[in-house]
Amino acid sequence: MRLTIIGAGHVGLVTALCFAERGNEVLCVDHDAAKVARLSKGEATFHEPGVPQLLAKHGGRAVKFSSSTAEGTAFGEVIFICVSTPSLPGGGVDMRYFEAVSRDIAAALTSYRVIVEKSTVPIRTAEHVKRTVQRHAANGGRDAAGNALFDVASNPEFLREGAAVKDTLEPDRIVIGVESERAEKLMRGVYAGFSAPVMVTGIPSAEMIKLASNAFLATKISFINAISRICELGGADVAEVARGMGLDPRIGRHFLGAGIGYGGSCFPKDVDGLIHVAADLGYPVPLLAEVQRINRDQCAHLVDAVRDELWVLAGKRVALWGLAFKPDTDDIRESPALRIAAALIAEGATVAGYDPVAGANAVAACPGLKLASSAADAAAKADALIVATEWPEFTALSQNPASLAALKRTMRVPAVFDGRNCLDAAAWRTAGFTLRGMGR
Ligand SMILES: NC(=O)c1ccc[n+]([C@@H]2O[C@H](COP(=O)([O-])OP(=O)(O)OC[C@H]3O[C@@H](n4cnc5c(N)ncnc54)[C@H](O)[C@@H]3O)[C@@H](O)[C@H]2O)c1
Repeated sequence: MRLTIIGAGHVGLVTALCFAERGNEVLCVDHDAAKVARLSKGEATFHEPGVPQLLAKHGGRAVKFSSSTAEGTAFGEVIFICVSTPSLPGGGVDMRYFEAVSRDIAAALTSYRVIVEKSTVPIRTAEHVKRTVQRHAANGGRDAAGNALFDVASNPEFLREGAAVKDTLEPDRIVIGVESERAEKLMRGVYAGFSAPVMVTGIPSAEMIKLASNAFLATKISFINAISRICELGGADVAEVARGMGLDPRIGRHFLGAGIGYGGSCFPKDVDGLIHVAADLGYPVPLLAEVQRINRDQCAHLVDAVRDELWVLAGKRVALWGLAFKPDTDDIRESPALRIAAALIAEGATVAGYDPVAGANAVAACPGLKLASSAADAAAKADALIVATEWPEFTALSQNPASLAALKRTMRVPAVFDGRNCLDAAAWRTAGFTLRGMGR
């Protein structure tokens, strides 16, 4: 099929490449001309395993790039909108990019198209898209015979950064929200080459499945983090507690890792978005506000622990290992590591950060953060070491006593704070470090 993707970011680019991998012809549009130029040269614009290889295979062939939404509208019978839907400063979702794309598609609409919401959007977004397209398209979005020239559909994306290519090629479910048979047929055709179960729903349900899924996962993380605080006070080990809980199939073991909390471009903003949507609809959900509060408090709790250890933070050097919001990505949006860095810097500490791939993005986003060239460079002469992202480079040290001994010799104070409970505490303590985890 000929498919158009609008927004060549983490979701749009991966979706475009994976649709090409499944045999489709794709035009990927982004309004950022510099990004389009880099992608057209075969250059990946962010770190994501598998993307450079797919870009080399399909770029300029099955996937072409453009900065024109009009060209995109003329190209694909199905148009996936994958643009950013960030949080507004006062909460709620900023739909300005999504609205702009809807208007641009409307202005270029000449034959039937399915306009698909792939970005994460508030429930009832499709109603707004429909009204916007009708308002801005010639003849109200109808052909000469009065037939509608478009349908709106919802096809939420569940990929995880760091595993985005695999998640997109082998999704665990495909959710399609539609309100016409024609749109359903085309959407089923798009996913004909995928082996995942397809679930067809009404559009509001599809929109809600995504929001509810992210809010549930975030709630699970905040739940175990709240439990971890009780564990700390009561002398329990949250890792053991989580393992014991997770063996119950009704609970499951995933998303029960206590730590400095969730970040990234999705959970914080999507929980926030759902809080606002629910309130707008007349059913405020304080539970979700509490989920966000517990999450934010985890970073403050770690900073408290560092202060407790070092007494005064001003003038101290703190090594911060891991700056991305999770491993295998250079995405630093809402990264807990940067929240911790900012708090330490505000108290006068020098923070030497290191990340295998996210260093440049982190320095640009966090004023005062000093970038180290390696994990060892960050830790040299440090009064404390915080592990904020569980990159294998850091966790593997637990198996290497000689490296741990060498690391200890270079630090001023061998105090380690494991913000992800990802280090083998016994190995680090045997090497002479004091190690504090989260909730253990
Ligand atoms: N990143 C994830 O892990 C993930 C997972 C599932 C769903 N989502 C959702 O998908 C959407 C996109 O997320 P992302 O992480 O890919 O964002 P992103 O910021 O990486 O990419 C968005 C892209 O859209 C482009 N864009 C913005 N306005 C445009 C316009 N008017 N015309 C053309 N291009 C435009 C931007 O230049 C950018 O390249 C969001 O709603 C997000 O919540 C993200």
